[in-house]
Amino acid sequence: MSQAKVLIQLDSDPLPSTFDAIVAVDSGVEHLLSYGDVSPENLTPLVHGAMFTRAPDALKNTAIFIGGSDAQAGDSIAAAVRKLFFGPISVSVMLDGNGSNTTAVAAVLSAARHVSLSDSKALVLGGTGPVGGRVARLLLQQGTAVTLVSRDLTRVESARGKILAHLGPDFETRLLAVASSDRQGLDREIAATDAIFGCGAAGVQLLDERQMQLADRARVAIDLNAVPPCGLFGIAATDKAEKRGERFDYGAIGVGGLKMKIHRASIQKLFTKNDLLLDAEEIMQVGCQLEN
Ligand SMILES: NC(=O)c1ccc[n+]([C@@H]2O[C@H](COP(=O)([O-])OP(=O)(O)OC[C@H]3O[C@@H](n4cnc5c(N)ncnc54)[C@H](OP(=O)(O)O)[C@@H]3O)[C@@H](O)[C@H]2O)c1
Repeated sequence: MSQAKVLIQLDSDPLPSTFDAIVAVDSGVEHLLSYGDVSPENLTPLVHGAMFTRAPDALKNTAIFIGGSDAQAGDSIAAAVRKLFFGPISVSVMLDGNGSNTTAVAAVLSAARHVSLSDSKALVLGGTGPVGGRVARLLLQQGTAVTLVSRDLTRVESARGKILAHLGPDFETRLLAVASSDRQGLDREIAATDAIFGCGAAGVQLLDERQMQLADRARVAIDLNAVPPCGLFGIAATDKAEKRGERFDYGAIGVGGLKMKIHRASIQKLFTKNDLLLDAEEIMQVGCQLEN
């Protein structure tokens, strides 16, 4: 008997995201069960319900999606969910708190169309946020040298530490942290970069006209902020490989089409096995398959 594809949406916000729900339906999910206000403390019955209703060989037809505007809360939910699994009794899980994984993967893959990531230098502005941190992590794993930027040195050094704790000390020499208040230091990094990623909060300008003019080595610039003013001066939200001089520019909407494809393909992948964990790195693999 073929069993319906059931996705359980666990969201840390009081009202589960309608965006994530619609993408689930568009990805072929047949039954969507959406829960808000989910936390590690109250999720056990929801996960047990997923684990104990179907035979182990049919568990691939049930999966869990973890969303919500707080990506860190999503990580805690994922850890608590996976603690409940044992032996073959598990379901596949995808994490995309605030769209951070799918957005970061789409940004990195868009850049990879224009520069060879393994021998490039990248500047990741807004590097203390969930998207910036994931962009940096994915770039480092592709061999890129990354400079992480934030307004505050303590915060950016702490973000650097978290990335290195995740990836291991081998990446230490390729990850720098710079505060944007160090104007000269930032100018030097801008001038040396091949790829610029604007991952700052919505509606915040990270690089002004003068700073963008310094970036004459950059071959790609990606601004993930869709709310005016643009995060990187001169880039429009709708830019999609818009050529300006030697540089290809992308705005948030320009990256959005690929992000949506990656999101849908990742949901579909959940239903191929019952023990997948789709975090940034695994979603990157899904994205790479779409790009090839
Ligand atoms: N296209 C999509 O589907 C999609 C999906 C998800 C996110 N996004 C966009 O991607 C961007 C990054 O998302 P996120 O959730 O990682 O962002 P976020 O957490 O809201 O902000 C990222 C960083 O921006 C910096 N920032 C905040 N206010 C600032 C200000 N006034 N001036 C300068 N810097 C400021 C902060 O770093 P410091 O305080 O350390 O400087 C913060 O850690 C956002 O613009 C978001 O809207 C797009």
